Amino acid sequence: MGKVNRLKLAVLLSGSGSNLQAIIDACTAADYPAEIVLVFSNQPDAKGLDRARAAGIEAKSLGHKGYPGGREAYDHAVSELIAQSGADLVVLAGYLRLVSESFAKRWEGRLINIHPSLLPSFKGLHAHEQTIAAGVKYSGCSVHFVVPEMDAGPIIAQAVVPVLADDDAASLGQRILRQEHRIYPQVIRAIAEDRVVVGDDGRVTVHDSHSPDFAHINPVLARG
Ligand code: GAR
Repeated sequence: MGKVNRLKLAVLLSGSGSNLQAIIDACTAADYPAEIVLVFSNQPDAKGLDRARAAGIEAKSLGHKGYPGGREAYDHAVSELIAQSGADLVVLAGYLRLVSESFAKRWEGRLINIHPSLLPSFKGLHAHEQTIAAGVKYSGCSVHFVVPEMDAGPIIAQAVVPVLADDDAASLGQRILRQEHRIYPQVIRAIAEDRVVVGDDGRVTVHDSHSPDFAHINPVLARG
């Protein structure tokens, strides 16, 4: 098919892996410039590992509870697995574990995360509950480069959804997830095509967006 130099992805997750599935699906397109070489979970029973195996992708896990040496040693072991896989880009997709400073630094510029809020609002756990409690009328998701500080780091893309009066965390979460599944594969494509540039001021520019979707990345969507 003449596809050259697909960007190699390591996807890290802790749960369902619906974002992983969106990336797997994107990778099936002949012209998609990336491929998944490793799926890793800190939860050995994560459903996302099954999704990876079903797609014929190498899936590994390492339980973090009681890991000898603590967070630093654990993250070092994870880093080694990623390095062995030959990944160019580390994609956190529902990896519900704070990475250590040394992990963030080792993969700096090659490590991205998706978070279900419009950062810098509602960082950390329970973003949907925080969003509803704050009474904001819009929320969404953010894809950003990871830095040692949690849910900080240069923002690459965001998508907006309305927060409806009768929303609970689950209904809002579902609406946001649909946007996550749309923008995460697009961001990975843009990185693979070398179109994502972080300026000295920490602001990200995405060049030459030839996907109309990416150009309209902040649609305000009606219910559904
Ligand atoms: C997603 O909503 C993702 O944004 C969130 O976990 C969910 C994982 O869903 N991540 C975080 O909250 C990170 N702070 P998935 O396993 O179905 O992709």
